[in-house]
Amino acid sequence: MEKKDLDWANLGFGYMNADYRYVSNYKDGKWDDGAIITDSNIVLNECAGVLQYAQTCFEGLKAYTTEDGKVVCFRPDLNAQRMKDSCERLEMPVFPEDRFIDAVEQVVKANAAWVPPYGSGATLYIRPYMIATNSVIGVKPAEEYQFRILVTPVGPYFKGGAKPLTIRVSDFDRAAPHGTGHVKAGLNYAMSLHAIVDAHNKGYDENMYLDPATRTKVEETGGANFIFITKDGKLVTPKSDSILPSITRRSLMIVAEKYLGLTVEHREVLLSELDDFAECGLCGTAAVISPVGKIDDHGRNICFPSGMEKMGPVIQKLYDTLTGIQMGRIEAPEGWIKEIM
Ligand code: PLP
Ligand code: COI
Repeated sequence: MEKKDLDWANLGFGYMNADYRYVSNYKDGKWDDGAIITDSNIVLNECAGVLQYAQTCFEGLKAYTTEDGKVVCFRPDLNAQRMKDSCERLEMPVFPEDRFIDAVEQVVKANAAWVPPYGSGATLYIRPYMIATNSVIGVKPAEEYQFRILVTPVGPYFKGGAKPLTIRVSDFDRAAPHGTGHVKAGLNYAMSLHAIVDAHNKGYDENMYLDPATRTKVEETGGANFIFITKDGKLVTPKSDSILPSITRRSLMIVAEKYLGLTVEHREVLLSELDDFAECGLCGTAAVISPVGKIDDHGRNICFPSGMEKMGPVIQKLYDTLTGIQMGRIEAPEGWIKEIM
């Protein structure tokens, strides 16, 4: 199969209009059979639930070309499960988990020409999402929905190569005041856009959000969870009911313990203890693991002794092991890799 003629090594994290997308519609209480289509536009009624009350949620995962030339996904069952949780929280119908995985497989196969080659540094980002399509004017759930998956080849989420990020402690709360943590939904992200634009305008790469109730605990950033490494080499990662349960973070906790023999602490992390850590990173599907060099807490600068210039040594090991598993260089735990082609 002929690959698209793209400059794979220099892709940013952006959208390209790939050849095919997967679509299934929900009407009269059931999902239709679903299909691979070519039209990248959606025509909607002006009063569609997604447009009025943001009744929409999404997922994000990637397809990787492995060292031996296969195309695989990393733990898509967990994306299916999390999307089910998001749908239930938003009164949307669940797209069955087995069909979610089958749809991912279909859309990646259809777009095989868009899957970046092994070693290019790029991957195929897969974005499943659901929208409420029929008109609603009273505040209530819609009755008709569309589940859709688009794909786009992507490079690194953060610009600037492997240079560690500078993050500021945000004064903005990102969460809608309804306890929408654990839900990967449009509204949560819309609520974070002002904080992101403001951070970028002031020269920061991202925001560190705190727990809105006490503003003393570390939550996450706009699109990734935090990991910290203590001076004695433990992995510490925030536990909170209002952050997205990152699949990358949950996987790294296992990789750290089982592959690298590190002690893992999943617990509340206080803003006041950041000085005690040796390394810091952001983890997520898009972020993979991006090192953080500095956190600015209103003028109190926390600089991580390992990791100001490049990724610190422990985070580097986590990165190498995780990406090694995803690209087929290191044997994966049972059930983590879904072979597509
Ligand atoms: N937190 C937020 C707010 C995110 O948008 C993401 C990305 O999906 C993550 C964390 C990381 O989650 P995952 O590792 O499942 O991609
Ligand atoms: C992901 O990592 O999949 C994300 O969704 C992060 C961001 C692009 C929203």
